[in-house]
Formats: sequence, C-alpha cells, structure tokens
Amino acid sequence: MLILGIETSCDETSVALVDDRREIRAQITRSQLDEHVRFGGVVPEIAARAHLEYLPRMTAQVMADAGVVWAEIDGIAATVGPGLMGGLLVGATYGRALATARGLPFYPVNHLEGHALTARLTDDAQFPYLLLLVSGGHTALIAVRGVGEYETLGETRDDAAGECFDKCAKLLGLGWPGGPALEKLAAGARGEFRFDLPHPMIGAAHADFSFSGLKTAVRQVVRREGFADAQRADLARAAQNAIAVTLADRTRRAFQLSAQTFTALVVAGGVAANQTVRAALQKLADEMKVAFIAPPIALCTDNAAMIAWTAIERVRAGVAYPADTKPRPRWPL
Ligand code: KG4
Ligand code: ZN
Repeated sequence: MLILGIETSCDETSVALVDDRREIRAQITRSQLDEHVRFGGVVPEIAARAHLEYLPRMTAQVMADAGVVWAEIDGIAATVGPGLMGGLLVGATYGRALATARGLPFYPVNHLEGHALTARLTDDAQFPYLLLLVSGGHTALIAVRGVGEYETLGETRDDAAGECFDKCAKLLGLGWPGGPALEKLAAGARGEFRFDLPHPMIGAAHADFSFSGLKTAVRQVVRREGFADAQRADLARAAQNAIAVTLADRTRRAFQLSAQTFTALVVAGGVAANQTVRAALQKLADEMKVAFIAPPIALCTDNAAMIAWTAIERVRAGVAYPADTKPRPRWPL
C-alpha cells in the first residue's frame, strides 16, 4: 500500500509518500519561518495562502523524488484537524480534489493521531506505549494502546511547553521561535546566578501540566534592573531545567496512574528537539525500565509522513473514521 500524505495544520507545508513496509519513499517539508518571523509568530492567513501556493509543486516534486506515478498510489491522506482552519481547509480540499480526480480513496487524518503513531513508523514501537506530545500547541500524555485506542492521561491546563519556551525566550530578548534560541543561550550558562523558578504541578496527584506560572516568574526576574548577559544565560538554563524537570515529573506520574505496563516512553513534537528535555526523559525511561523512543527531529515536528502512515495503520487495522470528516480546528484524540 502506497499513500500520499499532506500536512498543512500549522506553518509547515509537508507532502510525503509512505508505504506499508514503513518506508518513507520521499518527503518534502517546507517551513514557513521566513514568512512569519517578522510578525513574531504564525499568522493564520499567511500560512493558508502559503500552503496553497506550495502544495502543487511539492506534490509533483515528491512523486518525482520517489520515482512514483499516479497508478502506483493507493490513496491520499490529509490532516483535517486539529489546527488552523485556513490551512486545514487548503490541505483537505487539495487532497480530496486530487483523490476525486484520480479515483482514489481520501483519508481524513487527525494530526494528533499522526504524532501518536509516528514511533511505529520510525521504530516499530509496540503497543501499548506512553506518548509525551510536547509542541508549540500541545502538551499531553497519551496512553497509546492500539490503532484508534488512545487515552489522555494528562494535558496542560494553560500554555503548551513549546509556548512556554517561546514566551520565556521573548522575555529574554530572543527571536521567534524561541525554543532553539533559548537552548543555545542556556548552553553558554556559567551558573554564577541562581534563580528559584517554580516547577508547576510537580508532585501533584494528577498528570496534568501548567506552564503559565513559570513564564510569569521569568518575567519578574527579567524586570529586575541591571540584567547582564551572564545572568540571561543562567536564567535561560534555569527556565529550561524547570520545564524539563516538570515534563519528567508529570510523565512519571502518568506511568504511576496507568494500571498498564508500557513497552516504551515515546516523545513527539518540536520540544523533543531539546537536549535537556531528552536527557530527563531518557533518565525517566531507564528508571521505569522501558525503552525511550525519540524519532528523528524531522519526524517529531509536523510532517506529512506521519499523516500518510496513520491512514495506512487505520486501513490495516480496519478502523474507520467518522463519516463527517470536514476540517475542524479542535479534534481531541
Ligand atoms: O511541533 P512543532 O514544530 O510545531 C507545533 O507546535 O505543532 O513545535 C514547535 C515548538 C515551538 O514552540 C518551538 O519553540 C519548540 O517547539 N522547540 C523547542 C526546540 N525546538 C523547537 N523548544 C525547546 N528547545 C528546542 N531545541
Ligand atoms: Zn504537531
């Protein structure tokens, strides 16, 4: 089975061809960073227009890269939610139109399910596993028990972890997206200045997250006068550590709350690129005696391979989608 996948839910336009032997035949992901950077964040209308402009060329290029012709493709999958409505409409309409024109089935995919199943594409992860999804828009702990069998064990009550990285970075005078910039600044920390930042929800009986208090604490520290560069680096490191420690603590709680034994701890989303976060999760996985799976960054962040793969998994498992598959900005797993 060979599926063409399309992802347009945020500011990444991505097209991929994936087969049921877990091979990504070709994938192109185009970040729209340059289009949004001067606004300091993603502008939905600009994103939608850019998706529309890129998709046809990228589809042709992916097919050429893979050396695949239309007769070899068995279906088309596109993200229909959750995400920014304009982009979802563009991707879903484009995918559905292509499918109709080529007489192929169209598979409307839940973006979060794509993240949830990526570890099976990249590492052949076996059910059940615990997924920590940490991106700019989502922070959630999900028990992945089978295709279509997901239980959210915890999620953020305010900001997402990536959003917290971005906001702290902005307070430190760094550009957008802030996560990578903050990590870089923190790497230069010498540890001369100590900051007692809160570790929100740590030790709580549930497995939810909260990051808005941390951002506020960073703002208060930054407001103090005479803030030197060395202090900024130390503060960046303190914020990064607080986020990493919090993520690991909440994930530990999810392990404890679930009656099930998991085969692995899987991480997905842009924040999974952070080395401090990765190290904390690796340590937790060792403690829990489970494998730690962190797919390559390009497949942790938004990509079309995970969308195509989700369609393959659902077809193989015989799990259908609801009949109403219109794009939707909100679509919990
Ligand atoms: O998954 P993603 O690429 O996009 C969505 O939000 O869907 O995640 C982007 C988020 C941003 O908030 C970005 O700052 C954060 O991931 N991020 C990082 C790093 N790289 C990206 N946060 C911390 N450290 C990084 N190295
Ligand atoms: Zn995503």
